Amino acid sequence: MMTWGDKIKAASAMAKVRFLGRQIPLFLSWPITNRCNYRCSYCDRPNQVDTEVSTERALEIVDEFAEMGTQFVFLSGGEPLVRKDAGLIIERCRQKRIFVCLTTNGALYLKRKPEIGRVDMLKISLDGPESVHDAYRAPGSFAEVMAVLADARKDRIPVVLNPVVSTASLPHVDEVIRIATEYGARIKFQPINHEPAGNKDIDTLMLDSTQMRALSGRLAHLRRSSGAIVNSRAGIRYLAALPGGKDIRCFAGRLFAYLMPNGNIFPCNKREELAAPSSCLARSVRDAMRDVPRVTCRTCWCTSDAELNLMMRFDPVEAIELAWRAVRAGV
Ligand SMILES: C[S@@+](CC[C@H](N)C(=O)[O-])C[C@H]1O[C@@H](n2cnc3c(N)ncnc32)[C@H](O)[C@@H]1O
Ligand code: SF4
Ligand code: SF4
Repeated sequence: MMTWGDKIKAASAMAKVRFLGRQIPLFLSWPITNRCNYRCSYCDRPNQVDTEVSTERALEIVDEFAEMGTQFVFLSGGEPLVRKDAGLIIERCRQKRIFVCLTTNGALYLKRKPEIGRVDMLKISLDGPESVHDAYRAPGSFAEVMAVLADARKDRIPVVLNPVVSTASLPHVDEVIRIATEYGARIKFQPINHEPAGNKDIDTLMLDSTQMRALSGRLAHLRRSSGAIVNSRAGIRYLAALPGGKDIRCFAGRLFAYLMPNGNIFPCNKREELAAPSSCLARSVRDAMRDVPRVTCRTCWCTSDAELNLMMRFDPVEAIELAWRAVRAGV
């Protein structure tokens, strides 16, 4: 739970990054493993299994990021809950007063809940109604997500649904909003992309520019009537420029960072196109962060990264809304 003191600290860190050029990785995205219990048709992470930092080093890494000013950790994967020490990593984050958002497919959550304890936010992948979700993911996976949603509502854990929008799921955007509303959850829509898909053939699932504009227009419209959508107004407008992209001032590697399961740090999760990573396996996070390359590119395919970059425009009207929504969205 963030106190007002934590919020002021976070706002001050953002201002230092934005106006003084400081490097403070306030937000850390951390897929702790690429292993996964699922084989979703649009995701290649389970085929990219690599070495993983040991439990001991993982806990030190949490400490070192906390020392650098990290206040938000987004644990993901692969499926983070296949990693046996996920609970220890979460507990260490809690000890360091770091806000923990856990992105999960939901299948292992109820079994592991007693051991992982309470997280600050659950981000759960839900791609559409049962037929769409199960076809992408696994038979019975929709029912598993519904069980987690019911349980999180009982525990009063904030939930953000994370639908991957493709040509197949685009017609079902309204249904995801209906489900979110029923369970008191929020939603961050994420267009499908080649990055997590790796070698998978997802060309027919990709949205073209006309479909992107249609998605952007539909979300802009729905957002007026549904408080469940956490994509910001600026973020929704940015979607309309994809897949080509639009210049965006980039704060990757300075305000936020992306830590791979093997200890490699990238500025953001557009890994393939970016310069070589910097490893914190055998040296401190601070030293590794110093060598994370400064980069910029035109296309923020990941809505979370785009929202963070847009937030840093410090547009007086949008800044407060973006900051609030970024946290609610589990950036
Ligand atoms: C890689 S998964 C890891 C966490 C967990 N296994 C899950 O599925 O929620 C994180 C998010 O990336 C999304 N994702 C996977 N492949 C994608 C793709 N090709 N394009 C966009 N998002 C994708 C998933 O749907 C999920 O919401
Ligand atoms: S989207 Fe998540 S659950 Fe599906 S294969 Fe990728 S990592 Fe596993
Ligand atoms: S995708 Fe490009 S613009 Fe977006 S955060 Fe990464 S490097 Fe920056």
